[in-house]
Amino acid sequence: MRIHVHVHADAEAAAAAVADEIARTVRDRPDAVLGLATGGTMEPVYARLIAAHRAGLSFARVTTFNLDEYVGLPPGHPQSYRSTIRRQFLDHVGVDPARSHVPRDDLPPDRAAAEYEAALAAAPPIDVQLLGLGRNGHIGFNEPPSPPGSRTRAVDLSASTVAANARFFAPDEAQPKRAVTMGIATILAARRLLLLAVGTAKADAVRAMIEGPVTDEVPASALRGHGDVTVVLDGAAAAGLAGDVGLTR
Ligand code: F6R
Repeated sequence: MRIHVHVHADAEAAAAAVADEIARTVRDRPDAVLGLATGGTMEPVYARLIAAHRAGLSFARVTTFNLDEYVGLPPGHPQSYRSTIRRQFLDHVGVDPARSHVPRDDLPPDRAAAEYEAALAAAPPIDVQLLGLGRNGHIGFNEPPSPPGSRTRAVDLSASTVAANARFFAPDEAQPKRAVTMGIATILAARRLLLLAVGTAKADAVRAMIEGPVTDEVPASALRGHGDVTVVLDGAAAAGLAGDVGLTR
């Protein structure tokens, strides 16, 4: 097994461990290329990185690539991932806007996807890619089934993802049902993958990712084909694992 699993006492400690790992990467390599994720799980990670920046960590030379962006929101919508990552992280740590990348929401999705792949290909490899985990085993917005060879493309969101993300939209607001996402192969091209999952709602997906078959039906199971993956969990997300909790394996 090439996935290192770290189980922490609670969600806060798990987020702190992930933030420490990102901070260490940036300290060691001030011009690091970071792959960023959005979603509720990542909010405390970014809050901690903002605190690290205020304590002296510079992000001035960092390049960032977000995993994904909704299709169909008006550009500048507060729940677009471009707006979200700026509000939760980028605007507070001095990342050069010219070096922060999110799939464009002002282009036809297929063109935005092709441009994003080209931008990734032109940059050095991502040093560390942050990942959350969908309840259905998605990474980025690679919904089941997603083939391991997939690249950045426009996708339909699954009903379970739309339901899980409804909390970010007002009840009377149209919620996007499509997205542009890095593909599985795009994600696996990063040097290092760092996945954070917390809470009981993720326990089944965590078990399927780590202990189930490697299958397109559980897109996160493809991570087992990468040589440097760390999965950081709280006890609730780790509850379904048959292996020894607390061990790194
Ligand atoms: C977001 C993303 C998604 C989320 C996942 C978990 O950029 O790529 O894969 O990481 O849906 O979302 P939360 O953290 O809201 O449970």
